[in-house]
Amino acid sequence: MIDWQALTAYARSVSAQDHSGHGFDHIERVIVMAKRLAAETPGVDSAVVVAAATMHDTYDDKLVDNAATAKSAANHAMAAAGLTDEQIQAVIAIIDHMSFKANLGKHQALSLEGQLVQDADRLDAIGAIGIGRAFMYGGAHGGRMYDPALAPRTALTPSNYRDKDSTVINHFYEKLLKLKDQLNTSAAKQLAEHRQQVMEDFLAEFKAEWGGER
Ligand code: ADP
Ligand code: NI
Repeated sequence: MIDWQALTAYARSVSAQDHSGHGFDHIERVIVMAKRLAAETPGVDSAVVVAAATMHDTYDDKLVDNAATAKSAANHAMAAAGLTDEQIQAVIAIIDHMSFKANLGKHQALSLEGQLVQDADRLDAIGAIGIGRAFMYGGAHGGRMYDPALAPRTALTPSNYRDKDSTVINHFYEKLLKLKDQLNTSAAKQLAEHRQQVMEDFLAEFKAEWGGER
């Protein structure tokens, strides 16, 4: 028996201080979507899927001061909640390899469970929610919305990924519009079609209003 309430409470406590788009509402949406994708995928360990979705941001260095300490605390929280050592190792391998940043420049191999959680996390970065999160992130980091004179960077790398000299609108061209083609499962790809259209419509409207055309 896994104590999901305890694991969820742990993840909630880690994300409590976040105002940059990684709050617990993000975790809850990723859990719901990962469960939905798991239900359509035979042969996955759904406990590993749900645990990885729940824990995926609990030791990220953008959210915690000391990632190594936070990782060992995450390990303990999973053991205390009743996950087996094997399941914990599977969850840790997923979290270590699923992030966009970890995959810049090199593709990381992921288990089937990891592919579902990565898709759920990426779906939450696109569409209407993705637009909202991008502006939350921009606001939290003191970024600007838009600068028509500043071209998007052609390639993101681990070293320029967190550079401040970009804008929220550029982030759509540098990352968000590309996520659709990086999804693993056909179920997620199908959901991404509509979300992509929502972003494209938003960008067209944004620029038209910016230029005083509408
Ligand atoms: P990952 O969780 O894969 O490491 P990030 O932490 O970079 O990805 O992204 C988390 C959220 O913050 C996403 O919704 C993403 O779009 C947003 N975000 C990240 N970087 C920026 C940025 N430079 N401008 C606007 N939004 C951003
Ligand atoms: Ni996430």
